Amino acid sequence: MDATTAPASATALGAPVERREGREKVTGTARYAAEQPCPGRAHAWPVPASIARGRVTGIDTAAALAVPGVLAVLTHQNAPRLAEPEDPTLGVLRDSRVPHRGWFVALVVGETLEAARAGAAAVRVDYAVEDHDVTLTATHPDAYAPEQANGGYPGSREHGDPDGVFASAEVRVDVDYRVPPLHNHPMEPHATTAEWHDGRLTVHTSTQGSTAVRAVLAGLFGLPEEHVTVLAEHVGGGFGSKGTPRPDVVLAAMAARHTGRPVTLALPRRFLPAVVGHRAPTLHRLRLGAHPDGRLTSLIHEVTTHTSRIKEFVEQAAVPARVMYAAPDSRTTHRVAPLDVPTPSWMRAPGEAPGMYALESAMDELAAELGMDPVELRIVNEPGTEPDSGKPFSSRHLVECLREGARRFDWAERDPRPRSRAEGPLLVGSGVAAAMYPVLVQPSTAAARALPDGTYLVRINATDIGTGARTVLAQIAADALAVPVARVRTEVGSSELPAASLAGGSSGTASWGWAVHEACTRLAERLAEGPPPAEGIEVRADTAGRADADSPFARHAFGAHFAEVAVDTVTGETRVRRLLGVYAAGHILNSRTARSQFVGGMTMGLGMALTEGSTVDAAFGDFAEADLAAYHVPTHADVPDIEAHWIDEDDTRLNPMGSKGIGEIGIVGTAAAIGNAVFHATGVRLRELPLTPDRVL
Ligand code: MOS
Repeated sequence: MDATTAPASATALGAPVERREGREKVTGTARYAAEQPCPGRAHAWPVPASIARGRVTGIDTAAALAVPGVLAVLTHQNAPRLAEPEDPTLGVLRDSRVPHRGWFVALVVGETLEAARAGAAAVRVDYAVEDHDVTLTATHPDAYAPEQANGGYPGSREHGDPDGVFASAEVRVDVDYRVPPLHNHPMEPHATTAEWHDGRLTVHTSTQGSTAVRAVLAGLFGLPEEHVTVLAEHVGGGFGSKGTPRPDVVLAAMAARHTGRPVTLALPRRFLPAVVGHRAPTLHRLRLGAHPDGRLTSLIHEVTTHTSRIKEFVEQAAVPARVMYAAPDSRTTHRVAPLDVPTPSWMRAPGEAPGMYALESAMDELAAELGMDPVELRIVNEPGTEPDSGKPFSSRHLVECLREGARRFDWAERDPRPRSRAEGPLLVGSGVAAAMYPVLVQPSTAAARALPDGTYLVRINATDIGTGARTVLAQIAADALAVPVARVRTEVGSSELPAASLAGGSSGTASWGWAVHEACTRLAERLAEGPPPAEGIEVRADTAGRADADSPFARHAFGAHFAEVAVDTVTGETRVRRLLGVYAAGHILNSRTARSQFVGGMTMGLGMALTEGSTVDAAFGDFAEADLAAYHVPTHADVPDIEAHWIDEDDTRLNPMGSKGIGEIGIVGTAAAIGNAVFHATGVRLRELPLTPDRVL
C-alpha cells in the first residue's frame, strides 16, 4: 500500500502496529554499539580487581605491553585525568582504591579483541588487602535508617500506633521474606565505541538515555555539550542497568583519547554483575493485623538492604505498602547497610518488584489464616484514597483487574484447600497477587516537521531499548496530525536530536509522547492555515514545567497476576503451567508492543520466582553467579502459557494520550503469585526466593 493512501484507521492509537525496526533486527542489519563500522578501530578489555577491599600498590604492565598487538595499558597512574564524577561508580582509574571485587583497575587496548584480552591476562597487580564484609543480615550493626529511599521517597513513614494495634489484632501474620541479589543481564552487554576528532567526542553506546550520557561525558572530559555526540540507535535491552552511564563509556572515551584511535569496549558478560549494578538483596519483615472479616488494622513493612561503600542506593521496597491497602495504622521503613559489595542500581521495577513479592505473599498468608479467598481479601482492603498520602487516585481499577483475571482464570473452580490437587507425583496449585507501578513522567523536547510531499518527520532523542519506541511515537504523531501512521517518519537515538528523558521508570512513552503530541498538534494548527512551503515547516515543543509537575492525584498503574504451578514431589522442580495478567494502565497505545512488554515483565517475574538469584560469596566478596550458565533467566521452555490482558482506562489526569507506563508492572507481583501457587499446591510456605528444587524439597 502506498504510504500516502493508507487508511486513516492505521493511525489509531492502540492499533497493533508492527515495530519499524523489526526487519533490521531479525535480519541482523541493525547495528549495535560494538558493531559500528569504524576504520582503524582498536579494542579494549578491562582488568577487574581480584580483591574485595584494599588498594593497588603496584601494576606491572611490561608483560602485557609485550603481547603482540597490545597498544596501551591504562591504569590510575597514566589514564587521562578527568573531572570528579557525580556518580562514584564512574570514578574509574582515578586512584588506587579498590571498593569492591570486580572494580576495574586497568584497561588494555589492542589491535584486536584477542590481543586486548591476552594483554589483560598478562597485567600483574599487587594489592594491599583489607578485611571485607559483604554479608547482609537483618541486624547488621552498620545498617542505618536513610532519610530517603530511591525515587525521593521518605525512608520511613508511620501512621497511628502500628505496634499497639498489631499486638491487639484478632488475626495476625508476622513473617520474614528474603529476595536475593538479582542481575539485569540484557541480551546486549554494555558496550561503547568511542572516537575523537578535533577535540570532539563521538560515542556509540548502549544506554537507556543518551541525553544524560552526553551531559556526563561533557562534565568528565571538560567539554561543551555540543562537542559530544552520543548515539544509541539500537539497544539490546537494559532493564535499568543502562539507565545511567557505566564505566564502559568512560573507559572507551579515555582509551580513544590516550591512543588516538577509535576504541570499542564491549564488557564481557561475566564482568557485568560487578560494574553495571544489581538489584540489592532485600530482607523483609511483614506484620499484618486484621479483623476476622479481613479488614487490615495494622500494616508494618520493614526492609533491610545493602549498598556499596561508595554510593548510597536504597531499594525502595517498602514504598508499595504505602499505596496498596487501607490500614489505619501503619509503618513502612528502610534500613541500609554499606558493605564491600558492588554498587547496586536500578533493575526493572526497583522497589516494587521485591516489595510486592513480600507484601503480596504476606497477604496470601493472611488469607490462609482467615480462611478467606485471597482475591476477596484484597477487595475488602481496597482504599478510598492513597493510604499514605490521602490523595485521591487519578484512576484505580485494581478490583476490576482482580475480578477480570479471576473470571479468565476460572478462579471460582479452584478448591481453596492447600495440597488438594495431585497428578501422580505432581502437586498442582494456583495463586494470585496484585501489581502496582507508579506513573512517572519527565520533561522532553520534540520537533515535528511537515514536508511538501505530504509526509512528516518527528525528531526526538528517545531511546528504543527494544520496546518499539519509534513505532508508538509515530502513532502518537499520526494521531495528533490526523494522518496515516505510514506518513510519519521518526528519528530517535541521537543526542543531536531534541533532548529527551531516558527510557526508565516506565516513563518513556508518556514523556516523549507528550512532547511529540504537543509538537504535532501545533504543527497541525499551522498547517490548517495553508500547505507547507518547499523547505517544510518545523514546530518544536518542550514539556518542561508541565511533565514534571506534582499532581494532586495519586497516579499508578495496577494489575493482577494469576499463576498455576505443578510441583514435582520427587525432584522438587516447580514448573509454571499458566500465567495470566490483567492490567489497568490507562490507554494502551499499541496493543502489539504493549503485550510484548507485559509478557516480558511477567517472564522476568517467573525467573525471579523460580530460577534467578545470586549469592554474595562471603570469602571472595562478589557474586558467584556471573554468567548465563549459572544465573538462569527463563527460556521459552520455561514459559508455556502466558497471557496479558488489560482494562482500558479513561484517565484525563495523566498526559494528552491518557497512558500509564507499562514496562515494569509485569514483573511486579508475579513472583508472589507463583509463590502463593506453590503454597496452594504443597501446603508449604517458602519465604526465600528463588524457589529452586533444593528449597522446595
Ligand atoms: Mo527501569 S529499572 O526504571 O530502567
